[in-house]
Amino acid sequence: MTALDIVKQNLPADRISCDAGDMASHLVDWRRAYRGKASALLQPRTTAEVAKILEIAKDHHQVVVPQGGNTGLVGGGIPSQSGSDWLLSLSKMNKIEEVNIQNRSMTVQAGAILQDIHTKSAMDGLYFPLNLAAKGSCSIGGNMATNAGGVNVLRYGTTRDLILGLEVVLMGGEVMDMLTPLRKDNTGYDLKNLFIGSEGTLGIITRANLKLFALPKARATAIAAISDVSDALPLLSQLQQMSGEEVEAFELMPKVLVEAVLGHFPTITPPLSEIPPYILLMEIASSDAADGEANAQGEIPLQNVMMRFLEQGFEKNLIKDATLAQNEAQRQALWDIRENAPEIANTVEGPINTDIAVARADVPDFYKQASAAIHAIHPATRICGYGHLGDGNLHFNLYPGAGKDEGWQQNRDAVKEAVYQVLADFNGSISAEHGIGQMKAEQLKSVKAPALLNKMRAIKQVFDPENLLNPGKILQD
Ligand code: FAD
Ligand code: LAC
Ligand code: ZN
Repeated sequence: MTALDIVKQNLPADRISCDAGDMASHLVDWRRAYRGKASALLQPRTTAEVAKILEIAKDHHQVVVPQGGNTGLVGGGIPSQSGSDWLLSLSKMNKIEEVNIQNRSMTVQAGAILQDIHTKSAMDGLYFPLNLAAKGSCSIGGNMATNAGGVNVLRYGTTRDLILGLEVVLMGGEVMDMLTPLRKDNTGYDLKNLFIGSEGTLGIITRANLKLFALPKARATAIAAISDVSDALPLLSQLQQMSGEEVEAFELMPKVLVEAVLGHFPTITPPLSEIPPYILLMEIASSDAADGEANAQGEIPLQNVMMRFLEQGFEKNLIKDATLAQNEAQRQALWDIRENAPEIANTVEGPINTDIAVARADVPDFYKQASAAIHAIHPATRICGYGHLGDGNLHFNLYPGAGKDEGWQQNRDAVKEAVYQVLADFNGSISAEHGIGQMKAEQLKSVKAPALLNKMRAIKQVFDPENLLNPGKILQD
């Protein structure tokens, strides 16, 4: 009897499919950069079912690749080309089990969709602040496995900062119950945090306790035109100070990117009459509803903070133009530009997509030096460095010149190398939020100190000595 036959004996029939049509969307990633094959698609509904699958897998030396919403950008959830891997999708384990209002926590299954978590917490007057453009499809399990960042890290931290407890199933079927609503627990090594960011290579996350916050009741959202990236830093400090650290998002977008988004999505309204060299998208939020209501003077307090901030920016000649959203529809129109930015890389030939981080204070110098190095090699390169400036994390993406750029393919590798050389000079990270997956596994070997890589290999040995769980991801050897 094959391993799959044994799974079929132990699990209800609807958990298993070998149908090419059922499997197709699971075998290619969002950017269509990675394609894999699988001998079966397994969709368990409970932790016990995941444990059974991993028990059988270990007994039969069977490779298992976990997948959540399949929105990852580094090929981490895509199986190999061998055709024998099992694809274990958490998509049917999508229950939101409990909200504990007094504890400000929520218990969920790992396949729960991020947007559903937002909706459910809001119904209880609470807020789960992890926010990324893939929220309608990505799962909390995938968010944990990649330690996802997104647009609210500035105020609330990365996924790691938002998780109280976890349940993980190891290869072989052992269930590690680290589910806890506790906010403090110093009882030895922090195993929970080992699994967060491990990209499905150490265990399968099946359930979690999430930290919830007060639901924002008022928001002020603005777009500001700046002429140089260096102008962004004093503005960020100023907004953090004036708002009482209520800055949720502080995102940078260069002109070339905004123009590309507007060109590709003609229904999106241009945010300013003229697109400046760089745009900042800024949002502050308060959980006090009164901050969003007109007071006796007819002023809306939070809008007023943003307005005064923008005025000061104009006075200091840091801000050249601005738009302050007056209602939810206008706010969404500003966010539409940002949320559609990742799509642009899918519209060009041979993009270089990066996910780098440097110290926040170094962002302007990095931007300048990397741009100079790139243009010295290939002057036509369109530099689309955008994203989470407040975290020092940019998607410093590089696209071929407009029109037909004959030399791009030839210079592409040299351009990429130049960017990472400048990044190394700044002691930056090659992966700030998307993870290593397949995409950066080779590169990791050249940037991570051998002593650290060896310790990572030793950890992998402890949890998965036969390298059956998501092999080839993070550590390729
Ligand atoms: P998948 O893509 O299914 O899997 C990702 C990795 O996690 C794989 O290695 C997989 O094996 C593993 N995995 C999945 N579920 C589990 C589990 N239950 N247990 C163990 N391992 C598991 N990322 C950011 O950080 N910030 C952003 O702002 C951001 N914006 C994005 C915008 C768009 C439009 C898109 C398409 C992606 C974006 N991403 C962003 C990347 C992606 O959404 C995140 O990495 C997300 O956390 C992946 O979740 P997922 O459920 O889709 O995981
Ligand atoms: C973003 C994704 C790509 O921030 O991380 O747009
Ligand atoms: Zn991002």
